[in-house]
Amino acid sequence: MIKTCVIGHPILHSKSPLIHNYWIKEHGLDGSYKAVDVACENLESGIRDLVEKNYRGFNVTIPHKESVMNLCDDVDETAQQIGAVNTVVIEGGRLKGSNTDAFGFIENIRSHAPEFSFAAGSVVVLGSGGAAKAVVHGLLEHGAPEIFLVNRTKEKALILAESCLAPDKVSIIDWDERSKILEGAAMLVNTTSLGMDGQAALSIDLALLPRDALVTDIVYAPLHTELLKVAKNNGHKIITGIGMLLHQARPAFNAWYGVMPEVSAELEKMVQS
Ligand code: ATR
Repeated sequence: MIKTCVIGHPILHSKSPLIHNYWIKEHGLDGSYKAVDVACENLESGIRDLVEKNYRGFNVTIPHKESVMNLCDDVDETAQQIGAVNTVVIEGGRLKGSNTDAFGFIENIRSHAPEFSFAAGSVVVLGSGGAAKAVVHGLLEHGAPEIFLVNRTKEKALILAESCLAPDKVSIIDWDERSKILEGAAMLVNTTSLGMDGQAALSIDLALLPRDALVTDIVYAPLHTELLKVAKNNGHKIITGIGMLLHQARPAFNAWYGVMPEVSAELEKMVQS
């Protein structure tokens, strides 16, 4: 039996068990994937417990993605660059950390808009939190020529830009300029928590965004955020955030179970409900 799990706090609403257990069943594997609630003060002992119980690995979610890095024996280049680990493989008691969020973001776009070229033009990224770091990493790795990084707290955008793959390709834009900077962009990505159930709405005017620009939101609850609804009405191609969650899970599953799983329409539907 290959044991895996996700650790976080809170963890009750995580969709990861549903995704991984779907693939375990689909591939007829002898495995299990649980959600394990681990509070910040118990992170080290919680992980030790998983090692002692012979877990093959685990996912890491809020609030441990950064702090878990210090507990890993190896952290791969992508995770180091992003500054966060979301996947750990346990090998001979050693913890190997990686980050699959950038992959998840890119694969979500690729699967829903295969015709889209990341090199097509500038990308406007709203937000500079953990998710933004992965999105910017993925975009730069896939040839985005220019990124306009827009964040309420400018200092955070500056730190992100300075430490990213290609600082010369990232320009920092004031939050109040977010509607104006859309002129000529090939893609708009919301990585802020605005628009999420229970959060304030994202207020942005899409009038200047070229009609052929892609609009995507990493918020997936609700699936169709106000941003995506307005973008769709304006004629933009839209991509919801649920696919990033599904695709980021694929390399983790592959690392533990040795099978690269696919995102079927059935799985996508299951995760949305
Ligand atoms: P995650 O790891 O999911 O990206 P995070 O690190 O908490 O989450 O980042 C949340 C992002 O949403 C940040 O960019 C945050 O802006 P600040 O850096 O200024 O905090 C943004 N955000 C949250 N609430 C916001 C609001 N009311 N207005 C503008 N931006 C907001």
